[in-house]
Amino acid sequence: MPEEKHEPKPAVGNEFNRRDFFVKLGLGSLSIAAAGTAVFAYQFLSPNVLYEPSPIVNAGKPESYPLDSVTLDVNSGIYVIHAKEGFFSVGAVCTHLGCLTAWKPELGIIACPCHGSKFQRDGTKIEGPAPKPLPWFRTWVSDEGDLMVDRSAPIRALQFVRV
Ligand code: FES
Repeated sequence: MPEEKHEPKPAVGNEFNRRDFFVKLGLGSLSIAAAGTAVFAYQFLSPNVLYEPSPIVNAGKPESYPLDSVTLDVNSGIYVIHAKEGFFSVGAVCTHLGCLTAWKPELGIIACPCHGSKFQRDGTKIEGPAPKPLPWFRTWVSDEGDLMVDRSAPIRALQFVRV
């Protein structure tokens, strides 16, 4: 009786599955690497821009500021002052360490709550550790009749806007 030989069958199906698995694994890895590269390339090529609010502030109609008034705009960090000489605007941020100052109508001064610097309403320093007066900002009346203030443009003091 002839002896039956049991030779192992070629594992074509298993080999194909293993090869297919490694091909898919490789393609998956390449896809992840490509996606990561695309993300970093997009971040690298995107402009590195800070979107800050405009330094130009629309302070509204001059009529809304009574004569001899000092009005703090907390959002923009400026005072709009209506003096008998005209309108002007000074920064409300203390020149010492950057605290927001406050108008004290009972004393007629601008005071810093942090370390006690005091300023006249025209920004002149009275006392305290602040090294400089409060800056004057360029102020004008727009074509629509609104008071405009450019916080990025400090100017020489005593430049009043007459309306
Ligand atoms: S921050 Fe105003 S006095 Fe120091």
